[in-house]
Order: sequence, then C-alpha cells, then structure tokens
Amino acid sequence: SSSPSSSSSSSYNATQQRLPGAIIIGVRKGGTRALLEMLNLHPDVEVAKAEVHYFNVEEHYHQGLAWYQAQMPFTLPGQLTVEKTPGYFASPQVPARVWDMNPAVRLLLIVRDPAERLVSDYTQVLHNRLTQHKPYQPLEELLLHKGHINHGYKALQRSLYHLHLARWLEVFPREQIHVVDGDALIRDPFPELRKAERFLDLPPRINPSNFYFNITKGFYCLLSAGHDKCLDESKGRQHAPLSTQALQKLCRYFRKPNKHFFEMVGRSFSWC
Ligand code: A3P
Repeated sequence: SSSPSSSSSSSYNATQQRLPGAIIIGVRKGGTRALLEMLNLHPDVEVAKAEVHYFNVEEHYHQGLAWYQAQMPFTLPGQLTVEKTPGYFASPQVPARVWDMNPAVRLLLIVRDPAERLVSDYTQVLHNRLTQHKPYQPLEELLLHKGHINHGYKALQRSLYHLHLARWLEVFPREQIHVVDGDALIRDPFPELRKAERFLDLPPRINPSNFYFNITKGFYCLLSAGHDKCLDESKGRQHAPLSTQALQKLCRYFRKPNKHFFEMVGRSFSWC
C-alpha cells in the first residue's frame, strides 16, 4: 500500500482500478477512518482515500459500476481494494445493491459503544453547524423529550445496530461480515488489525511497530516506511457534554438493543 503521506507513489507501478474486494460499511463515528488507514499499512491493500457514497447516493448509484470503479485506487493484480463509506450501514437500499455488485465481497463493520457513538455523532454535526455559522440545539434537547428518550432522534437511530445489521443479514451470510471492536481499536490497534488481516485472507504484514501512542493526540498514530501519520483533528475530538442523568437514561435505553446485537453477532461488548 502507499505510504501514508505519498499516495501518488502507489500509481507508479500500478496497472488498473478495480472494484473493491472489501468494504467498510460503518458505523458512522465507529472508527472507520482509523480502520481504513490502518488496513492501508498492508502492502497488499490499496484504499479509496475519500468516502465513495456509491450505493447510498442515488446520483452516484445511477451512474453505474464504471463510475464506482473510477473512484478506486490503482492496484496491481492480487492487491485488495478497500473503500469505506460509513453511511452504507444504516441505508436500507444498500445491502442488496452491494450483493448485486459482488455477492462474495467482504464486509467490515466497526462498532463502538452506542452511547459514546451517539455523542460523537452529535459532536460532529454540531461542529459542522458551527463552522457554517448555523445554530444547533444542545444535545439534551434533541435526545430527551419531557424527560424521556426521543426515539426519533437520528443519531439515536444510527446507534441501534441490531436494526441495521438485521437488514444486512437478510442479504449476506454472517461469516461475510467481520465485526471490529472500535473501542479496542482505540485502546490498542494491533490485535484488531491482525484479526482483520485474517478475515481478509491477507498474509500478516501489519506489525505492532506500525503503531505508537501519541501523547499530544491522545490516540495511536501510524508509522510506515519512516513516515509518521496521525488522523486529522476531526478524529478524536472532545465530546459535547451530557449530564450523568441523561447518560444513564441512554445506557438503560440501549440495554435491550445491545443484547439483540450481541446475539446476532455471537459475541458481547462491554458497553455502558
Ligand atoms: P471521536 O472523534 O468521537 O473520538 P469515524 O472515522 O468513523 O468518523 O470515527 C471517528 C472516531 O475514530 C473518533 O471518534 C475516534 O474515537 C476513533 N478513533 C479510533 N482510532 C483512532 C485514532 N488512532 N486516532 C483518532 N481517532 C481514532
């Protein structure tokens, strides 16, 4: 794969653009960028740098597979192309469309504590609004209605992983979806990358020495061929505040959905 700072080097010997053999389908704010960049450390992997939004955006989808392929990086035969679009996971029309493209494509789903994800999601929208000089309601106003959880809040819906996964499992067999623990990826990326390599049938080439904890950033950063790369400042942002009381309500709310999700994936996570 290209070194993190010089993606142009990848096109030097490369032959052609190919459809992805693996897709990171979500979840939004789960750590999708970190996972993509870390997979890109592998010499047999090339990634689409920008989110592609092919299967979930009608204008793109209607341009057909040639358009999709043209968004992909140049690869040598035998290299694996990977793209990530977090919006795929929660879009109802996407699973069948992905299957139509390639029923053997491998899917990666990175999940994170759903309450934490919701706050991260809110914080991103808040940041975007403020950048556009637009106001935005405080999180608790969106999340609670007369003291009760507001089911209609979009960011809450996106954290109901079992609902979205159920639609994927109507189309794809369970073995074709690899679940990455986003909280574990933050704490220690290497073990999650080793598992992903195995799922993708890649020889083990990513090493613990590809990661170092950057104290200033407060997250792991990447090392490859002498290059040092941290994710940009939009990743690992300080979260908007939420009262302990609201957080407790949220955690209680997620208990059942989480249980459903654990049953579907056949493992559990230590979420709130
Ligand atoms: P926060 O900004 O809420 O901390 P996505 O790329 O899907 O939008 O996910 C963003 C999240 O990736 C960040 O959410 C952060 O917690 C997580 N993340 C995981 N590993 C990271 C890393 N090495 N550097 C920065 N962020 C990382």
